[in-house]
Amino acid sequence: MCGIVGYIGHRDAYPIILNGLKRLEYRGYDSAGVALYDGTGIQMAKTKGKVADLEAKVNAEITPNGSLGIGHTRWATHGVPNDINSHPHYSNSGDLVIIHNGIIENYGSIKKELINRGYTFKSDTDTEVLVNLIEEIKKKEKVKLGKAVQIALNNVVGAYAIAVFDRNKPDEIVVAKLGSPLAIGIGENEFFVASDATPFIEFTNNAIYLEDEEMAIIRLKKGVKVRKIKDDSLVDPYIQELKLNIEQIEKGGYDHFMLKEIYEQPEVIKDTYRGRLLAKQGIIKMAGLEENMSKFVNANRIIIIACGTSWHAGLVAEYIFEEWARIPVEVEYASEFRYRNPIITDKDVVIAISQSGETADTLAAIKLAKQKGALVYGVCNVVGSTISRETHSGSYTHAGPEIGVASTKAFTTQITVLTMIALRLADVKGTMSKSDYMMHLRELEMIPDLVAAALKSEDKIKEIAKIFKDASNFLYLGRGYNFPVALEGALKLKEISYIHAEGYPAAEMKHGPIALIDEQMPVVVIAVNSNHYEKVVSNIEEIKARKGKIIAVVTEGDTVVKELADYVMEVPATPESLSPLVTTIPLQLLSYHIAVMLDKNVDQPRNLAKSVTVE
Ligand code: G6P
Repeated sequence: MCGIVGYIGHRDAYPIILNGLKRLEYRGYDSAGVALYDGTGIQMAKTKGKVADLEAKVNAEITPNGSLGIGHTRWATHGVPNDINSHPHYSNSGDLVIIHNGIIENYGSIKKELINRGYTFKSDTDTEVLVNLIEEIKKKEKVKLGKAVQIALNNVVGAYAIAVFDRNKPDEIVVAKLGSPLAIGIGENEFFVASDATPFIEFTNNAIYLEDEEMAIIRLKKGVKVRKIKDDSLVDPYIQELKLNIEQIEKGGYDHFMLKEIYEQPEVIKDTYRGRLLAKQGIIKMAGLEENMSKFVNANRIIIIACGTSWHAGLVAEYIFEEWARIPVEVEYASEFRYRNPIITDKDVVIAISQSGETADTLAAIKLAKQKGALVYGVCNVVGSTISRETHSGSYTHAGPEIGVASTKAFTTQITVLTMIALRLADVKGTMSKSDYMMHLRELEMIPDLVAAALKSEDKIKEIAKIFKDASNFLYLGRGYNFPVALEGALKLKEISYIHAEGYPAAEMKHGPIALIDEQMPVVVIAVNSNHYEKVVSNIEEIKARKGKIIAVVTEGDTVVKELADYVMEVPATPESLSPLVTTIPLQLLSYHIAVMLDKNVDQPRNLAKSVTVE
């Protein structure tokens, strides 16, 4: 987690860094800081709080100047969020200044060693240890900054994306990467460094994404030199042309990124299937899948690994893969999978789902699955992300940048990709009738319109949000394909409103959660027309008998549940297997409006981060 930005060139560095930090704030927002070289020395400001607090502090304390600088927005790992633990960190001499995203695991022993050599530490961070280790090596070995960074990194265990400069050599920034992302923007006589390309997209479309265990020395006059950290060999970096545009990373008139992203869903679901789904011709073509078709078709099992919302998309996929393609599926939390010596063979296909493509646990699980010989297929949103590169093959979701920390459009586009994979496999394996297959293709193509129709209920959902915003607990129930939607609905509410919410398979309610139900308890039930409709109706009766308040997601035109429920949120009819793409919409809007009414920070909920690059 944490966002890092750096600039060296001919413009004023501070506005670029500040703006960049605002764009990277989704990565962490406990504290922020900036260090600028003003022509004579380093000016630094840092503070607990958000980038806006940093801006206020800079205005009050320094006159930001200079064309070289680095900035950081933090999600605390070592040391509580306070001013001192905020980045950047100085070395003891004050010559070096560093920003870091990641964790140095062996910082304790290095710190002891440095203390023995007379170093002192102001903060509790692993990062301050790293910058002093670099300083010690630089002095002792009498080497340049780049070399000192390289030697230091060969002595640390952990993950990092770092940027460091020396006030005595203000024409270069040294950066390095292992485990955390780092992009270098290449402009005309200017260079940018950032955790992703959003901070520099208005300045250049050319970027180098460093690979793990690579470092770069960025010199104003001489350009970028990339080397392997381990053996110092030179690397010829691939300069990627970015497709991102500035509108995609701004709020576009919406109050929050989350609401913008909820409303983008009809369009981005289309982007996800554009060119891949040709409903009339009965064709689904996804290059990565076709290349690995025999592995998929002959797989003993598909194992899906993911975290958070992506894990919920994996659960939806479990239902459709098994139903349509008749391949056994297991869905695993990446964090559990990686540590439990799972049984995997080269007959298994592992699908790793990740919006950011940077989640540390998912990445570790991928490495393990690869070691055990499985084909690993990625379903990622961020193009060029670490997971998209670590996997053997995969399909992008093409949802565009998702900036709100609570994931919305990533979820529906992940399900769209997984649905296409399942349908294609069912067709190749002959496990679905041709007419069913053609029907599903047509229905999938209609989903964007149905999502747009579901969004029309926003006003009604707002009224429901007003009624229940002060509840302290919520229960979410769903069955079959909509059980994962119940989990996702509960997660959305927890994440942004801080109201405790639990998702449960509706029928399991009687084995525990039913004890919680009283007149104070709102129960959100997904009760769309489905195989389980009657059973869900019985569950609703059970809740009513205990005076729980029912908020039901129903199919347009429903009469039975409408009669029973206290409030309903209508969605258009879809085949049950595709219904999660639509039933999730009112739940996103419900949690959004509750959080807004409670005056919570919707886009940056407390303690969370968009991309979790630590264990
Ligand atoms: C974090 C985010 C969640 C996300 C999860 C997995 O916890 O806050 O929204 O679902 O990470 O992220 P990924 O990028 O791997 O999908």
